[in-house]
Amino acid sequence: MKISILLVLTTIFISNVVNAKSLNIYSHRQPYLLKPFIDAYTKKTGVQLNVVYSSKGLAQRLSAEGANSPADLILTVDIARLYRYEDLDLLAKIDSKILIENIPPYLRSKNNTWFGLSKRTRAIAISKDRMNSGDVLRYEDLADPKLKGKICSRPGSHVYNRALMASIIAAKGADDAEKWAKGLVSNLAKRPQGNDRSQLKSIYSGECDVAIINHYYYGKLTYSKNPDHRKWAKASIIVFPNQGPGDRGAHVNISGGGVVKFSKNKETATKFLEFLVTDEAQILYGDVNFEYPINNKSKLPKRLKALGTFKEDSLLIEDIAKLAPKAQEIIDTVYW
Ligand SMILES: [Fe+2]
Repeated sequence: MKISILLVLTTIFISNVVNAKSLNIYSHRQPYLLKPFIDAYTKKTGVQLNVVYSSKGLAQRLSAEGANSPADLILTVDIARLYRYEDLDLLAKIDSKILIENIPPYLRSKNNTWFGLSKRTRAIAISKDRMNSGDVLRYEDLADPKLKGKICSRPGSHVYNRALMASIIAAKGADDAEKWAKGLVSNLAKRPQGNDRSQLKSIYSGECDVAIINHYYYGKLTYSKNPDHRKWAKASIIVFPNQGPGDRGAHVNISGGGVVKFSKNKETATKFLEFLVTDEAQILYGDVNFEYPINNKSKLPKRLKALGTFKEDSLLIEDIAKLAPKAQEIIDTVYW
């Protein structure tokens, strides 16, 4: 009896030692967005997660550090940023049935180096009072002269708009995409400026009637503690574009991650990525930042369900990264 208790205790001790590792994450995601995931994972496994946060320069840093880098994992948003790590050969090939089964093939690397973990869509907000719900249904409508002087947008060269531009090139070809961008720019109510939140504020203040925004800003403002923010959101309705039968669906971008090629803790790092696609973590993405689950079978938290569901463009998301330079060229040409 004594021996078996000792054995059990030894096993627990050993398994704790095996699991009591720490992981170092390089993150482009803001600390407050990561913290709930880190807390949940550490509580569950005892693994300590140390995060180096920076909005810029992490790929260069990792590249310069090479095999001496302490980093095990990278986490970021936007496919072009993620793809840069692959391009610089900084990511390990991960053999994980869980990741492959839970992430649609078009939202992960075909080389199993990076993986989408949540989704966001580039949506269109329209004024509740000054527009009718059927007035803008597709991205293509944004170039229609009937919207002259009505549209607000942040600058075209922001990664969110560059990715949208790339998706238009993929759908229509570069020439038509440029015509679309010209049409959009000639419909702007004012010089592109501000972030996505401020576009909703501009609809509220009457400066414009239509805005291009990532859907989660609408969710964040709708449920904000700040009454002014709630007023901004209330002035608009959100449209998920290109939903008609046979249409391609709304453009989506991802938050995602990958294991660092030189990590000494690849197995533990892979386990953390696998945790991020479990139902528990997928619901957290919705709760924390109104992001949609990467796994189309996952449940939606209540407030995300209230925001609505949509059909998404199932373009290989890697193509968005590959088309980003061409997208930027068009954005520069049309002065978006
Ligand atoms: Fe954002």
